[in-house]
Amino acid sequence: MFNLMRSKLSFGRMVEIATEMGMANPLFRCHEQAAKATTKIDGREYINFSTYDYLDINTHPEITEAVTETAMQFGTSAGASRLVGGERPQHRELERAIADFYDVDDAIVYVSGHATNVSTLGFLCGKKDVIFHDGLAHNSLVQGARLSGAQRFSYAHNDCDALERVLEEKRGDYRHAFIVTEGLFSMDGNIPDLPRIIALKKRYDCLLLVDEAHSLGILGPTGRGVREYFGIAPNDVDMWMSTLSKTLCGCGGFIAGSHELVDYLKYGSPGFVYSVGMPPVIASACLTALNILKREPERVHKLQAISQFFLRYAQEKGLDTGAAQGYAVVPIIIGNSWVTGFLSQALMGRGIYVMPISFPAVKEGTARLRFFISAAHTEEHVRKALDAVVEEIPNAAQIVKEYQDAHPNAQATA
Ligand SMILES: Cc1ncc(COP(=O)(O)O)c(C=O)c1O
Repeated sequence: MFNLMRSKLSFGRMVEIATEMGMANPLFRCHEQAAKATTKIDGREYINFSTYDYLDINTHPEITEAVTETAMQFGTSAGASRLVGGERPQHRELERAIADFYDVDDAIVYVSGHATNVSTLGFLCGKKDVIFHDGLAHNSLVQGARLSGAQRFSYAHNDCDALERVLEEKRGDYRHAFIVTEGLFSMDGNIPDLPRIIALKKRYDCLLLVDEAHSLGILGPTGRGVREYFGIAPNDVDMWMSTLSKTLCGCGGFIAGSHELVDYLKYGSPGFVYSVGMPPVIASACLTALNILKREPERVHKLQAISQFFLRYAQEKGLDTGAAQGYAVVPIIIGNSWVTGFLSQALMGRGIYVMPISFPAVKEGTARLRFFISAAHTEEHVRKALDAVVEEIPNAAQIVKEYQDAHPNAQATA
């Protein structure tokens, strides 16, 4: 039964077709070292462009020391939901530190970033409400919107005119309204016009959630995210959301905002109330990572400089970087999913680990290699990778062409 169900999944189907075409499955590879700017697979070293370790903090000795101490005293499990099983000091310290970082009253941490969005939106919004979200909003935001039962309108990606039109037309029909966007878009690496979105949210009486999964630690002179990038007042956004799995090197997510909001979520949001508390060791790791970020803004500067270099170099080479602005996430858009897959495979053969992204994660025909850049990447890493991309595109295209010529009725066309 599950095999039949799996064959209906887009990812599953793609892997099957790719195997038929002679491509190795790029998914679920087992790495022999931590997720950093370089990695090792089957004894071979790769430049790694598939890690969220944006600020090169993962494996920092201070984190290892902090989690070791926490594990000795508190073990590795929170034991139960914090509501009934109680808290450990690391929970409160982390939430306080996040709230201070955002200059807002309070914060709540959940055990998963994905669950943070699903549970928060699912809980806060209801049938009489409406959610306006960016067309490229992350799956967790869309799932949360669906779960809530609220009416949902997706506006064209990063298009505030489209948002304004739909607000004008639809806002009046609903009780509460929410606008949902990201601080830096995870697939395109571009930044929303947050000042305009804030003006719209005020004009149309909406609440605003900004997901900073890829902007916390990345944007702004000290890594305080899209708020610092634009110089936005902290309370102009109702819910600052981020994952803890990226810059902060742990796992989980948070919502930072007013006391009233955080208390409401802590007593009601199902992903918090009915889920175990974050393991104290993870809270300890994230808190230590946050302290490192605050203390060492030079990591942010390094990341910004190498990301800008990446973007410039890619563009000089004539590669399509879409709307990317040169902050940590830069796609190289290839178009055809199969060419992108074979390209990723060829790059692996040249010691470069970067994942292909295709439908359903992005629109059909916009398959891409998504490069996550780390402060530890060097200009030499970037040159080596992008030179290889340019050289391998024709080879990958040729493999796909030959396959399609030999199998004119095959599904491998997108
Ligand atoms: C924008 C965005 N939000 C939420 C998530 C979910 O976070 P996590 O992977 O920490 O569960 C991700 C994950 O990549 C993301 O990119």
